[in-house]
Amino acid sequence: MSETVSRFIFPREFVWGVATSAYQIEGAWNADGKGESIWDRFSHTPGNIMNGDTGDIACDHYHRYAEDVALMKELGVQAYRFSISWPRVLPNGKGDANRAGFKFYRCLVDELLESGIEPWVCLHHWDLPQTLQDAGGWVNPNIVNYFADYARLVANELGDRVKRWVIFNEPRCIAWLGHLTGIHAPGMKNLKSALKVSHHLELAQGKAIQTLREVNQGLQIGTVVDLNVVHPISDDEKDREAASKLDELWNRWFIDPIFKGEYPPLAEKVGLKPDQDDMDLIKQPLDFLGVNYYTRLLATNDPSNPLTRAKVVQKKTPTTEKGWEIYSNGLYEILMRLRTDYGNPTLYVTENGAAFEDNIIKDGKVQDDDRMAFLRDHIAQAYRAIKEGVRLNGYFVWTIIDNFEWAEGYSQRFGLVQTNYQSLKRTPKKSFYWYKQVIANNGVSFP
Ligand code: GCO
Repeated sequence: MSETVSRFIFPREFVWGVATSAYQIEGAWNADGKGESIWDRFSHTPGNIMNGDTGDIACDHYHRYAEDVALMKELGVQAYRFSISWPRVLPNGKGDANRAGFKFYRCLVDELLESGIEPWVCLHHWDLPQTLQDAGGWVNPNIVNYFADYARLVANELGDRVKRWVIFNEPRCIAWLGHLTGIHAPGMKNLKSALKVSHHLELAQGKAIQTLREVNQGLQIGTVVDLNVVHPISDDEKDREAASKLDELWNRWFIDPIFKGEYPPLAEKVGLKPDQDDMDLIKQPLDFLGVNYYTRLLATNDPSNPLTRAKVVQKKTPTTEKGWEIYSNGLYEILMRLRTDYGNPTLYVTENGAAFEDNIIKDGKVQDDDRMAFLRDHIAQAYRAIKEGVRLNGYFVWTIIDNFEWAEGYSQRFGLVQTNYQSLKRTPKKSFYWYKQVIANNGVSFP
């Protein structure tokens, strides 16, 4: 009997990568002149993080970056997306730079380049300097200029060897999780503030794009949003309306302004009415958009929610350890929507991955077949989108090593490599060798 094998081989120039962020891996939270970030403050405050975990040491990547780059080299990735810790290079958020901080990033970049891996620098993955938070953080309109100054400084320091720049990672999380639900730093729960934050993030992004272009015309500049497909739980009109509002809040809020120069209708309803100059600043041309995709949200009508009249409901489907539904088709859906409704921009999947318990060990290695299946199915959906004309140029796995998963601390493991948080030893999982094969073959096969 012959088995059918399907092969999904990607275009020759397709980029395979992995991604991380500063606070989640670096540790060294107060080493060599680094300032305090809002995530340091938040994790040091009891009750905020599961098991009282902090990023104080994390994976100690600050001291072990060479080992981590060596792992990436072995994996064969062509690109690595990481973020700069703003308070590591500007301990007070503005003013004097910390030379030791820049030395670290310069060494990291050099190590990557020597290993044939392209560095993708993200300017902000949530770890705002605490001193700026003390002055109002993202609620204070001055943050727009502080951020642009910081962007200029980093581009001046690294722009000679880094061509790929990402302005933000998931502004949605900063605005809604940091300022509305309060489950992330700085832990605020205030709708008015959250609305301001969302707008200041958009303005800061526009201004930073302009600034980077001034510094160096040769840079490739993009930004990263997390998009989830939102489906109604039933065909009922009220559930459909709920899904559509939730989609405005989660997805459209952070892409409509960039691509269409306007917020979705919900914004005006809740009191955000920016003037035209603001919208013009926000609508800067991007060289690419990065999409982080993890799951689907199912929405139902909930009149008690004053904002969206919607509630997210859990369906009993296979989920990852985070409780997120495994729904690979959603990646295809999101990519196609960007093609159809947003002018078919150049795209990268800048994060996709899964937390699993990682409890099946053989010969000292985690046998994470569930992670492999998750990644394989999503990669196949990415391929399907490319075949239908989506301009998708690359795919980054979240993440290379198990690391600090925000409010969940170290309880969730997303890595291709296992981190032992006692010894800090790194051990590649089965999925590491599998992804290595994907990169070598430039695609995946079924079964
Ligand atoms: C995010 C961030 C990552 C997370 C990852 C898994 O999407 O929240 O970009 O820092 O760790 O997404 O939740």
